[in-house]
Amino acid sequence: MATTILVFDSGLGGLTVFREVVKARPDAHYVYVADDAFFPYNGRAEAELVARVGALMGELIETHRPDLIVIACNTASTLVLPHLRTRFSVPFVGTVPAIKPACAGSRTKRVSVLGTEATVGREYTHALIREFANGSDVKLVGSAKLAGFAEAELYGAPVADDLIAQEIAPCFVDAGGRRTDTVVLACTHYPLLLYRLERLAPWPVTFVDPAPAIARRAADLSGPKAGDAPGSPARIVFTSSRSPSAALGAALARFGLGG
Ligand code: DGL
Repeated sequence: MATTILVFDSGLGGLTVFREVVKARPDAHYVYVADDAFFPYNGRAEAELVARVGALMGELIETHRPDLIVIACNTASTLVLPHLRTRFSVPFVGTVPAIKPACAGSRTKRVSVLGTEATVGREYTHALIREFANGSDVKLVGSAKLAGFAEAELYGAPVADDLIAQEIAPCFVDAGGRRTDTVVLACTHYPLLLYRLERLAPWPVTFVDPAPAIARRAADLSGPKAGDAPGSPARIVFTSSRSPSAALGAALARFGLGG
């Protein structure tokens, strides 16, 4: 029996993690779950989010019997992971802001963390900065809109450049002779916009996407590989039960998801 890996996000941002996990474990069977009925998680009360994700996870485990679950969402992981680990015996891999490698790699010691407002406000994120800033000045930049912009891109309705430029502008600090050289992408939706972020950045920076590291962790935890041959076709589940539009269907097919 192939290992079943369930990849979970509030929407389609988790696809940026999913594609890396598939590269690391092509033989596994995948179910991608988008909790689009509740998107965005940003702005939800913490207690509401803990209850929602906990209840949904119980149903998903019952239905899909996964061997491993990847919570491909910073907004959820920075809050609900401890609750999930206490409640369920399935191993979970979370996605949290890559502050440690970003600060270790920054030459100018100016790093920005770009995430949802919820993620940059979480105590979990603040604790990572206290522990791993490594002498860097770390600026937290919360965006209410960027995850929605990334979804729009996949739906075939990309937003204008200036809207994206406005959201990322606070990440770029030029002060005291030191400019930001590293921006942590602390929301799994943002790598979907990477080519636009690179083009719209006022100067070149390293955008840190944690997906390859998460994929390595998922591969380590999911037992011995059965070979390099692809497993059964991956499935996507929308909690809203909607069927994807033609444009979204084409975008999903690029991620190897046929519906
Ligand atoms: N993909 C989610 C994350 O990594 C955020 C989107 C949302 O607000 O639901 O944080």
